[in-house]
Amino acid sequence: MFKSKITGAGHYLPEKVVTNKDLEKIMDTTDEWIRERSGIEERRFAEYGKDTTANMGTKASRIAIERAGLTVDDIDFIIFATLSPDYYFPGPGTTVQYELGGKRTIAALDVRNQCSGFIYSLSVADQFIKTGMYKNILVIGSELHSSGLDLTTRGRAVSVLFGDGAGAVVLSRSEEEGKGILSTHLHSQGEFAEALYVRGPGNFTPRKYYPKMDEDYINTTPQMDGQLVFKNAVVRFTEVIMEALKTNNYTPADLNMFVPHQANLRISQFVQRQLKLTDDRVYNNIQRLGNTTAATIPIIISEMWEKNMIKENDLHVLAAFGSGFTWASALIKW
Ligand code: ACO
Repeated sequence: MFKSKITGAGHYLPEKVVTNKDLEKIMDTTDEWIRERSGIEERRFAEYGKDTTANMGTKASRIAIERAGLTVDDIDFIIFATLSPDYYFPGPGTTVQYELGGKRTIAALDVRNQCSGFIYSLSVADQFIKTGMYKNILVIGSELHSSGLDLTTRGRAVSVLFGDGAGAVVLSRSEEEGKGILSTHLHSQGEFAEALYVRGPGNFTPRKYYPKMDEDYINTTPQMDGQLVFKNAVVRFTEVIMEALKTNNYTPADLNMFVPHQANLRISQFVQRQLKLTDDRVYNNIQRLGNTTAATIPIIISEMWEKNMIKENDLHVLAAFGSGFTWASALIKW
């Protein structure tokens, strides 16, 4: 069996910064409420007609490929995680295959696992590399939430939390023992599908029945039972991190960095306390970017890459929880 390791990371953020004060102007909310409940101070919103979920992913990917010391034609496979695709179908993976402009007709796979989408994708990539099927896989998370949010007072409980952006990593074949992706751990609990979801478009809202349905039922914006999500998230995060550490005979004390999916700063801080980690061993960017869902973790990896925060032999745990419910972790020895 081969090993797999991340050899490059990149990210792209739309230029437009939207502060909590900006949101105060368009809905009944306050900077204080958003900061206290979520930790968020500002987020990025894409420019309609310029940024797309796919092209943000392509921009992040180009940087990741360059940092890996590779060219587009070295990439064997694309895995793209998003909950905010440009088309209902096909997913954005094939658009990235086209936009990258490589010579080969490489495969593109789209993953729909929301906040856990990047770790699920990394896990799929890891299996393809370990079995020898592929050598270099692009794993992308990209979200353009802003066009699908209800930015009125009605949607405020959800819409203040989300931001746009993209991140990508290159996962490559390696033969270094005890290094790279040590293990990944994936879970789901489908009875909570409607605790955090977008109902339509889908088979529960067929267009031919629209005249008979009330507006709330047809609603195509995200709906969330925030407290239920919160309560489950704090338990599952800790569980899946401990699962990754125990599988590899480590304890939280061995971790150099905890990279939590950024759903809410209070969730990350709760888990940090459970694991008894000091502030310098947790990376949060929700204050600047909000919840960028599948893009969050690759954006963080790229930010750490740029800040030279990733050192040889560092032990990092990635963990995410979100809609589905799905949750996941990955343990990495750099
Ligand atoms: N501004 C001002 N007031 C608001 C806002 C807002 N943006 N949103 C809701 N409120 C009001 C509510 O109407 C409610 O008012 P009421 O008491 O008069 O009824 C009050 O604030 C409290 O609302 P709650 O929903 O109880 O607030 P809570 O403390 O639960 O915080 C939050 C809400 C931040 C959403 C929290 O529950 C949370 O972070 N949950 C987890 C989110 C998460 O992890 N999502 C998963 C990832 S996303 C994914 O996978 C796609």
